Amino acid sequence: MESKMKPAGTMTVDFKGKKGEFPVYEGTDGPPVVDIRTFAKQTGAFTFDPGFTSTGSCESQITFIDGKKGVLLYRGYPIDQLAEKSTFMEIAYLLLKGELPTKMEFEEFNESITMHTMVHEQLKRFYSGFRRDAHPMAILVGVVGALAAFYHDSTDINDPVQRKIASHRMIAKMPTIAAMAYKYSIGQPFVFPQNNLGYTENFMRMCFAVPAEDYEVNPVLADALDKIFILHMDHEQNASTSTVRLAGSSGANPFACIAAGIASLWGPAHGGANEAALNMLAEIGTVDRIPEYIARAKDKSDPFRLMGFGHRVYKNYDPRATVMRKASHEVLNALGVENDPLLQVAMELEKIALEDPYFIEKKLYPNIDFYSGITLKALGFPTEMFTVLFALARTVGWIAQWTEMLEDPSQKIGRPRQVYTGAGMRDFVNIDKRS
Ligand code: CMC
Repeated sequence: MESKMKPAGTMTVDFKGKKGEFPVYEGTDGPPVVDIRTFAKQTGAFTFDPGFTSTGSCESQITFIDGKKGVLLYRGYPIDQLAEKSTFMEIAYLLLKGELPTKMEFEEFNESITMHTMVHEQLKRFYSGFRRDAHPMAILVGVVGALAAFYHDSTDINDPVQRKIASHRMIAKMPTIAAMAYKYSIGQPFVFPQNNLGYTENFMRMCFAVPAEDYEVNPVLADALDKIFILHMDHEQNASTSTVRLAGSSGANPFACIAAGIASLWGPAHGGANEAALNMLAEIGTVDRIPEYIARAKDKSDPFRLMGFGHRVYKNYDPRATVMRKASHEVLNALGVENDPLLQVAMELEKIALEDPYFIEKKLYPNIDFYSGITLKALGFPTEMFTVLFALARTVGWIAQWTEMLEDPSQKIGRPRQVYTGAGMRDFVNIDKRS
């Protein structure tokens, strides 16, 4: 990747007589960055930024977020336009390659992905090693990590051809692996992929078809799921993407890096929030109990948070939530479940929270997970599968970011420093002499 950062001045630091001067750069959009790569050398100090709230970890040309304005762009294209006019597969090409494909480029890409949808027969044995009640994210982390043991011919990260094969394999196999995790949990036979179907239709069929009956994919529902996938494909340097980059920075193989990303995504503050949001709505149960939960969310001594609200970057409405809200109503309409009690709680909760001074002051708006949970439930997925679907879609973003990192000549192994506040050096004391 060729750097496109433009010089924009310098910033000086003066600490106890030690002066440092640091270049400042600007990107296409967003705040400037101070290049502190020589900070320790020039000043003798480290910077301290747990949670990376003021730190850019890399240069990237994939996704841009303006949290104040509520803007999300993939390779420059606004997310609402992409969700409305494009498809998951076309955007996968866009994220990986940087430009929208021509017809011929798309056909070639689509065919390459499609021919990798099956998994090695031996891989199925992994599933029977899991308990039937295993969380599908636990299965996903294990099975995706295990892919490195099956596809040795695509683990050399220094070979661009192998990198491409590994990338296409993961994008293609993720729906198969995810659907198998679901089928295993409900005790139904695995359904093979059917390559004449589109990416999302194929996934729905692998989840919901059974060998005893014909299954036809409902195009309205497939379209909504495709939109959900599009909205989740990339989100710049979030926790799981940073995890993928950090794991990849050591030269780890791509399957291991994506497994690391899945592990990071699982947490309730990140990808697990859609599951947590739906569980919360179910726990609230009825509209009259909402004030009790709002009060708990505001109470500093209570760890409870309104799941599906707030975002590290968006301090305005999450643009994905706007698209998701609409898609959610389309699905509920198509299925005739507009009066779903969970949805009523969700709509009322949204209304109350948006008018509450606590949420207004802290700029806590509903995020994508607030609506995706309701929609996925209506589509027939159990809550445990929600984060799995997020991982399936985000795999494209992880791979695009991992590839970009490997192609960046300034890339180094990620190795943060710390401020040590533990015990000073002391001598070991034998156990019989310790009081
Ligand atoms: N409910 C109640 N209070 C909240 C919430 C919430 N959901 N989120 C933040 N706050 C409060 C928080 O207590 C803090 O208050 P104070 O300043 O008085 O200490 C203030 O708002 C700032 O919160 P923070 O934790 O410093 O903000 P953060 O940027 O570290 O956290 C977050 C962002 C998403 C982890 C957080 O808002 C949260 O836990 N939300 C619920 C989980 C959730 O919905 N996550 C999905 C994120 S979107 C999907 C994705 O992109 O991964």
